[in-house]
Amino acid sequence: MARSPSVVMIGGPPDGGGGARWGMIPARPARSARSARPARKPLERLPMIPPAHDPRPPRCSRVEMTEIVLPSHANNLGTAFGGQIMSWMDVAAAVAAARHARRVAVTASVDAIQFLAPVHRGDAVVLRSEVTYVGRTSMEVSVTVDAETLLTGQVRRTVEAFFTFVAVDEAGRPVPVPPLAPETDEERARFQAGAARAAERRGRRPA
Ligand SMILES: CC(C)(COP(=O)(O)OP(=O)(O)OC[C@H]1O[C@@H](n2cnc3c(N)ncnc32)[C@H](O)[C@@H]1OP(=O)(O)O)[C@@H](O)C(=O)NCCC(=O)NCCS
Repeated sequence: MARSPSVVMIGGPPDGGGGARWGMIPARPARSARSARPARKPLERLPMIPPAHDPRPPRCSRVEMTEIVLPSHANNLGTAFGGQIMSWMDVAAAVAAARHARRVAVTASVDAIQFLAPVHRGDAVVLRSEVTYVGRTSMEVSVTVDAETLLTGQVRRTVEAFFTFVAVDEAGRPVPVPPLAPETDEERARFQAGAARAAERRGRRPA
């Protein structure tokens, strides 16, 4: 029987008989075939990180994050725990703050959170965040949460809130962040409103 060129026989009996009863393994391709593999693509260049104090537009901090409500995220009514949604919001806000500052930033406060509609088990939860106002070391981050019923495509706004993050150094001390450069009328309006909200928060802080 002619032997296929793509297989090799192993462990045949001493008399050379036995054929296919003995194990067959695929033959290793010839060295020339192996070296014909396409060359590895060079690594893409990372975008340049602007100098620390250059103003940055809100779009540089924008985050969109999607989660799904699993049984472990839901209560006995089949709706998501509020704390779980808040935890996802904190992550989305932290990433936006870090994208703006390119520093470690800690959550300093969260404005009142209202849950406007329940989020059900199996829903997708779409979180969007971006920096809306910047002080010297603090950043206000807007976070919105929409719930999407995946089987129908119905989307409803579930939560909106403002988080304040403070950029800190290795010792946890506040450090300056780059200014925010709003680009659109809406972003400019939000920035001005953000300044008023920051003043209100300062007034609420314990002395
Ligand atoms: C947030 C923290 C770094 C602020 O430190 P601090 O010494 O009080 O800072 P300062 O008083 O110098 O204020 C620094 C900035 O933070 C802002 N800030 C401080 N506390 C704030 C609060 N509760 N809400 C909103 N902004 C606050 C200030 O307005 C100031 O902003 P600006 O520089 O833009 O004007 C500090 O309180 C901290 O480490 N808290 C714990 C953070 C944490 O662990 N979060 C995770 C959840 S437990």
